[in-house]
Amino acid sequence: MLTPNLRDLLSERFVLVDHELASAVVNGLSRPQKTLPCRFFYDARGSELFEEITRLPEYYPTRTEAAILEAHAADMAASIPDGGVLVEFGSGSSRKTETLLRHLPQLRAYIMIDVSESALLDAKERLATRFPSLDVRAIVADFSYPVALPVDLADGHRTGFFPGSTIGNLNPVEAQRLLRVFRGVLSPGSRLIVGVDLKKDLSILLPAYNDAAGVTAAFNLNLLARINREVAPAFDLDAFRHEAVYNARDGRIEMHLVSLADQDVTIGDQRFQFRKSETIHTENSYKYSVRQFQDLARAADWLPSRVWTDKDALFSVHELVCT
Ligand code: SAH
Ligand code: AVI
Repeated sequence: MLTPNLRDLLSERFVLVDHELASAVVNGLSRPQKTLPCRFFYDARGSELFEEITRLPEYYPTRTEAAILEAHAADMAASIPDGGVLVEFGSGSSRKTETLLRHLPQLRAYIMIDVSESALLDAKERLATRFPSLDVRAIVADFSYPVALPVDLADGHRTGFFPGSTIGNLNPVEAQRLLRVFRGVLSPGSRLIVGVDLKKDLSILLPAYNDAAGVTAAFNLNLLARINREVAPAFDLDAFRHEAVYNARDGRIEMHLVSLADQDVTIGDQRFQFRKSETIHTENSYKYSVRQFQDLARAADWLPSRVWTDKDALFSVHELVCT
């Protein structure tokens, strides 16, 4: 039998990913407000930079959510039955997941889904040493579409885990659509534990996306560096700067890349004109009240059951039940 050559398979897949990135870039830069989808932040370098962000003093979400999980993991784990399967969407480094896993000796398998292959590989290797008897599966996929779970785990009771406030990177309509997609991947009666960043004072919020060390700026600019590496050497990185602002009307942080001059950017046979100060909108990060997020969940046919927050009301972790 002919065994497919791994290199051939990989290069075929990379061609597909490149193609997807290239068409997203051309579509996004053709709009009146230029835009790029934030899922493309997470190549290997972007995943590394995100990990650095999570350790910044200004970036409160990761340590706050981690503390909520530490305090309540036993309660959260109690509703996961023996032989259940934990499915994490946008798992990244899976570091916070370890807190839950320590309370889940009864778990049949942990499935991590992420677009970042490098993040999945690192996490899988680390979990193999920390939880040697746990069955860990990694799936490289965009969670916005229904992901087929491994057939041998199809009959297990599933619990979803979606920490990090990654749901805040979608607008409320997209977030509802995503929660409906998750209903399809999980099943009626399943629970979803989802981390959601809360509305708060701008004196805390703005520095979290404008850190003094410039790591968030590097994360934002890496999107252009990635396009230069994978699509075409199109962008002069010194001709753009990072900007993060709070849009109070929509309740979201917006990240942009601001053009420092009038300039043209050429990708293949397409030329995109930038005026000085024109921006590429690269990310939204919506902030919700507990009530707002529960209403959103209900509108997507999820029933809010429990919610945990920290004493300063910076971050919330919701438990939702699939109706
Ligand atoms: N859950 C981790 C990581 C959050 S960062 C935490 O709480 O710290 C967001 C993660 O979601 C990244 O690992 C990124 O690669 C992944 N991601 C972003 N958009 C995605 C998409 N559309 N499909 C799958 N993974 C996605
Ligand atoms: C993954 N996501 C929830 C992060 C956020 O806070 O919106 C991504 C990020 N962007 C800038 N800093 C961190």
